[in-house]
Amino acid sequence: MIKVITYGTFDLFHEGHYRLLQRAKALGDYLIVGVTTEAYDKTRGKLNVIDSLVTRIENIKKTGFADEIIIEETEGQKFNDIKRLGIDIFTVGSDWTGCFDYLNDYCKVVYLERTKNISSTMLREQNSHIQRIGIIGTGRIAGRFMPEAKLVSGISTQGVYNPHWDSAVRFADRWEIDAYADMEEFFAAVDVVYIASPHETHYGYIKVALEHGKHVLCEKPMVLERAQAEELFRCAKERGLILFEGIKTAYCPGFQKLLGIACSGSIGSIRNVEACFTKLEAADTRELTDRKYGGSFTELGSYCMLPILKLFGKEFQEIRFDSLNGENGLDLFTKVSLKYPNGIATATCGLGVKSEGRLLIAGTKGYIVAEAPWWKTAYFEVHHENPGDIQKYSEIFLGDGLRYEISDFLSMITGTEKNNFKLTRGESVALAGMMERFLGQAGR
Ligand code: CTP
Repeated sequence: MIKVITYGTFDLFHEGHYRLLQRAKALGDYLIVGVTTEAYDKTRGKLNVIDSLVTRIENIKKTGFADEIIIEETEGQKFNDIKRLGIDIFTVGSDWTGCFDYLNDYCKVVYLERTKNISSTMLREQNSHIQRIGIIGTGRIAGRFMPEAKLVSGISTQGVYNPHWDSAVRFADRWEIDAYADMEEFFAAVDVVYIASPHETHYGYIKVALEHGKHVLCEKPMVLERAQAEELFRCAKERGLILFEGIKTAYCPGFQKLLGIACSGSIGSIRNVEACFTKLEAADTRELTDRKYGGSFTELGSYCMLPILKLFGKEFQEIRFDSLNGENGLDLFTKVSLKYPNGIATATCGLGVKSEGRLLIAGTKGYIVAEAPWWKTAYFEVHHENPGDIQKYSEIFLGDGLRYEISDFLSMITGTEKNNFKLTRGESVALAGMMERFLGQAGR
């Protein structure tokens, strides 16, 4: 009996998939189809798959070509499957030609000609209206956003707005998009907005974007006052719009995994969270010269507060900020200490003091440690009393990681996935409240 195996996502099942399976079956006597899990697709950068794993499996079953269906969960699984299942032929479409030649050592590899003019990507784009995204602000983060946005299907970057025309044009030329200095023209040309302007301008831009009926993805810290955050979320809700704070860590798969394990009971009840992020900055950067809104806490506090809010919640009993300030009064180093009914936490941020950037979560049975850059969570360890008892976890973190938040933002707009648990509105409001307290205490 000749055993054949093929793999794919098979999202929005189409004729190309049908013909591929038909010809794969014809290559032998027994066809095994490997279907990718959502988690695996996310780790390999395939974002915005629409059909659930169950639906995708059902669609393959309906063709009647598959004798067996397995799921593909990890990279490197194909080799093991081929050995384990005694496969004679591995086959995929010709878009993969050459990619699997290494499997020739274990079985025959056949690339079947891909059916022309059809793909899941094409169907996803036809089914959902492509969201034209406009960027407000042209700083470093906006430059990092551009290549990441290209990787998410369902959006296209349309243009950039900056009241300073020269900056808008420079950015637009660099990324081959349109430049706008007129806000009305800008809003008329886009469906959704990404705000990457200086912190203190976020509130005004979000408000006007919502008033123009645009969904908003805003860089952290979204706003610097609790009442502003509440007002903006209310405004978004009334208009049926999504307002989304872009703290990229919240959306990255490794951080989701870390939170899941922290809350699974494997380290017992959580009693202490320590999060530290320091980044030495040159003295002339905006972060160290903007006397009102610069400094380490407004810049990095959102990252460090995130695991604390996620694990201990928004209702702390006590909070205390200790800062070391530079000559211009801006905090070069800030330590926030929080007391909760059953735990304590510290968030440490530095722009002028370097420290070990670590996330440590201590529980009654063990602890989790993620080293820098834990805010781009790719690896962490779970330790117990016995020093030899260490579980190591890794998760892919691709590129700058903004693709995960962009993808989640988009799926909230299209309603295909509910992602607001990753950073709730309440958590964003709490973060704004924290910024307000800090700035108030710093006398700014
Ligand atoms: N396939 C094909 N002809 C097409 C589309 C897909 O033969 N027009 C094959 C692929 O080569 C692969 C299998 O079908 O062997 C599953 O492909 P998958 O990646 O799930 O489908 P695509 O339509 O290529 O998906 P996407 O657009 O998301 O890449």
